[in-house]
Amino acid sequence: MKIAIGNDHAAGELKPVIVDCIKALGHEVIDIGVAPGEAVDYPIPGEKVGRLVASKEADLGVLICGTGVGISLAANKVKGIRAAVCSDTATARLVREHNDANVISIGARIVGSELAKDIVTTFLTTDFSGEERHQRRIDLISSIEENFGNS
Ligand code: RB5
Repeated sequence: MKIAIGNDHAAGELKPVIVDCIKALGHEVIDIGVAPGEAVDYPIPGEKVGRLVASKEADLGVLICGTGVGISLAANKVKGIRAAVCSDTATARLVREHNDANVISIGARIVGSELAKDIVTTFLTTDFSGEERHQRRIDLISSIEENFGNS
């Protein structure tokens, strides 16, 4: 798969660790984040990764900021994006199985690097269940976008 990754300055150290983890799983990485020591306002990488996933230039996205929250809020403004903040592997599994989340967001100031790698690995190795009740709920989320528009 092609995985888009983005981060702000709070995650400059964690991002390369996660990039290596994603590559070790056999995926291609599209890295639009900043390097250690560089700064960027988190809505910028959040939107960029969201657009890469929504346009299908990337299959899934990974975002990292201080808490994982701000950057996910930005990504979720892009139509078709379901970005989920995860601080544990159970949530990372369930957001794929139940919510078909297409972006995972992690807080570099919240979780350590080993847990972050496990979270990303779980996210990237779990498929959407495809069960009707979950698809119905995802369709309801999509209908909110259709009714109010945000493309
Ligand atoms: C940056 O200092 C910090 O606010 C940002 O990384 C993130 O935690 C926002 O949600």
